[in-house]
Amino acid sequence: MKIAVASDHAGIDLKLPMLEVLKERGIEFTDFGTHDHNSTDYPSWGELVGKKVASGEYEKGLLFCGTGIGISLAANSVKGIRAVVCSDVFSAKMSREHNNCNILSLGARVVGVGLAAEILNAWLDTDFEDGGRHQRRVDMLIDIQDENMK
Ligand code: RB5
Repeated sequence: MKIAVASDHAGIDLKLPMLEVLKERGIEFTDFGTHDHNSTDYPSWGELVGKKVASGEYEKGLLFCGTGIGISLAANSVKGIRAVVCSDVFSAKMSREHNNCNILSLGARVVGVGLAAEILNAWLDTDFEDGGRHQRRVDMLIDIQDENMK
């Protein structure tokens, strides 16, 4: 699995320890930026990772900003993306199992490093429940994007 990663300046302090989690798990990733605390615009980073995942170049994405919200909204503006902001482990699991989310977004001003690592591990460990009603509903989401996004 290859993961595309990015953050804005507000997310970088949570991103760096989460990259260590990926390294410990032996997961290949690319951290596209930002690489310092200079103010930067979260929409650009969310779009970049969204495109990397939507194109199939990367299987999943990981995003960080202050709340996780803005950067996830940017990613969700890319056709093919289902990005979720999570502050709890249960939602992280469900976002994979039921929604087949392909990007996880975390808020550095919302969750601490310990909780974020639990959320990330749960998200990575949980597979989509293929087939059945969850597949049908995710297919509906894909159809909605197909109809409403270019
Ligand atoms: C930056 O101050 C902050 O607005 C951004 O990181 C994010 O939280 C937006 O949703």
